[in-house]
Amino acid sequence: MKRTHHCNELRPAHIGQTVTLSGWVHSRRDLGGLIFIDIRDREGRTQTVFDPSDLPAALFEQAAALRSECVVSITGAVRQRPVGTNNAKIPTGEVEVAVTALEVLNMAEVLPFPVDDPEIASKVNEELRLQYRYLDLRRPEMARNLKVRSKVAIATRSYMDEQGFLEVETPTLFKSTPEGAREFLVPNRREPGTFYALPQSPQQFKQILMVAGVERYFQLARCYRDEDLRADRQPEFTQVDIEMSFIEREDIYALIEGLLKRVWKTALNMDIPTPFKRISFEEALNRFGIDKPDTRFGMELVDFTAEFRTSTFKVFSGAIAAGGVVKALNAKGLAGATQGQIETMTEYAKSFGAKGLAYIKVENGEWKSPIVKFFSATEKAALIAKLAIEEGDLILFAADQWLTACEILGKIRLYCADVLKTQGRLVIPADQFNFLWVIEFPLLGFDREQNRWYSSHHPFTAPVTQDIPLLKTDPKKVRGQHYDVVVNGVELGGGSIRIHQPDVQKTVFEEVLQIPPEETKLRFGYMLDAFRYGAPPHGGIALGFDRLIAILCGTPSIRDVIAFPKTAKGTDLMTDSPATVSAKQLRDLHIELKVPKPAGMPTPPAPGTTPQ
Ligand code: AMO
Ligand code: AMP
Repeated sequence: MKRTHHCNELRPAHIGQTVTLSGWVHSRRDLGGLIFIDIRDREGRTQTVFDPSDLPAALFEQAAALRSECVVSITGAVRQRPVGTNNAKIPTGEVEVAVTALEVLNMAEVLPFPVDDPEIASKVNEELRLQYRYLDLRRPEMARNLKVRSKVAIATRSYMDEQGFLEVETPTLFKSTPEGAREFLVPNRREPGTFYALPQSPQQFKQILMVAGVERYFQLARCYRDEDLRADRQPEFTQVDIEMSFIEREDIYALIEGLLKRVWKTALNMDIPTPFKRISFEEALNRFGIDKPDTRFGMELVDFTAEFRTSTFKVFSGAIAAGGVVKALNAKGLAGATQGQIETMTEYAKSFGAKGLAYIKVENGEWKSPIVKFFSATEKAALIAKLAIEEGDLILFAADQWLTACEILGKIRLYCADVLKTQGRLVIPADQFNFLWVIEFPLLGFDREQNRWYSSHHPFTAPVTQDIPLLKTDPKKVRGQHYDVVVNGVELGGGSIRIHQPDVQKTVFEEVLQIPPEETKLRFGYMLDAFRYGAPPHGGIALGFDRLIAILCGTPSIRDVIAFPKTAKGTDLMTDSPATVSAKQLRDLHIELKVPKPAGMPTPPAPGTTPQ
């Protein structure tokens, strides 16, 4: 029995035809002596009817023994469903197949969780879903995510090809270049004590490809970072990695806007407006308290440094005297927050370094707050005017150094938006996508603990040309030619124009980042060498492919768009990895373990005594 149609194909036009469908038993109902089975395949599902009067008794018995997820092929005639039994929810809902032949290809045991009911399935514990990922991926929502991923990968490749890019693969056994996230190491059997590292990104290879004259490179590249995992971070993930020669920032913006336009059209049939808005890092922090602002709602931060400079409220005037600022936001309509909720918010703010979270609740025409008694009439008037204060508002303040104050209120702004969303008072349409370029990042940040500068992005980012002389005199002021593309508060990608002059790159490594010359040579010598043999000016970007697909699929977790993701602890529950290896494997790699023994564990046998 060879399949003639997929399970999403049959329509009234097929009525009278004999068809063969293959797939899984999605659901089954027994009604008045008839058995109704919905057969599901990758594309959709179709109702089939087993009538004992059309089928040999043995086949009907076989049908009666089928349970969810058995694999079958059926043949039968397509017919109209009886009046009143159409299912408008599925495209094949007007027809059914009256089965005349059944082949049971495989039976299925009782499932650990149902795959046919989205309501129940969405409540299944994620660990169970990951352990039985092959069942989880049969769920129509997950199957759709994989399909979107594949379509977008193909659309990306054709767009990049049309734009003259070559897809080049770069090694995933690379060298350790500790900078940024922690790396995964791979021991080298041939030379004891040496290691490969899995690349955090193909950054260095793609720059070398520019020196090699490739001019336009892209790759759907697998990257590895051993960092704390969250819903939007996996230890291995995919980037749409891009590098171009002889270009400026504007060329990258135009290229990526075109790519995302193509992707949104392919996946969602939506025309997204371009060019995207641009916002400087400083403005993003000032208005939204974060470098990846979600601009789908307001509640912007407002500065009150000037107004409170000479205030009698020492918490504010003191912070300003220490070189800081006072910022506030109006959480519209949240005056009803209980004392407990305000305390929760304060603790949350403190977890980001806040010293406190001053507030005013505007209720019954009164300002309820432990601090308003310290405010002058002018200060109050300024608050009313600049925050458009009304009945029912909750005003929250941060007084601190500029970056800290912005970041604290940025977190509180997102927290308040979440509260309003769960109360149904902030409704954001699912098809609203606010794209932004965040630009003019500072090239460097200062690490107080280590007392040294570090690269805000990575050490290959070029300074803005006129700021190069400041590298040695005033590093804080140097702006980087870095850009991030952000959508709805998610950092989709980032990149920069690179340093292509070996002397500038050497200055950044040795004088700014204070990497000793011997170490620079060891770690990046080949790059500095390459740059001496004719490096073209170049720049690029990498988009987080998993994040891109998660946004398109409307899911908050990238685990939902990766076929076999890892848990927050970095484990693969299906294959039970990572796992221990045999003593022989370790011996071959010249590795001796010093693993702290959990209490009560027997002492392992001496090396060489373990049976292989
Ligand atoms: P960056 O480190 O900003 O830049 O990474 C680019 C994009 O990759 C995605 N991303 C991740 N996605 C899932 N899990 C992770 N652990 C993870 N880490 C990063 C993000 C991010 O914006 N070589 C540079 C790019 C360049 O300069 O061209 C780089 O890797 O969406
Ligand atoms: P205190 O005088 O320390 O009791 O603080 C009075 C109010 O101001 C309390 O509500 C604190 O949470 C708040 N507060 C204290 N320090 C800060 C700060 N740096 N920024 C904002 N609010 C603060």
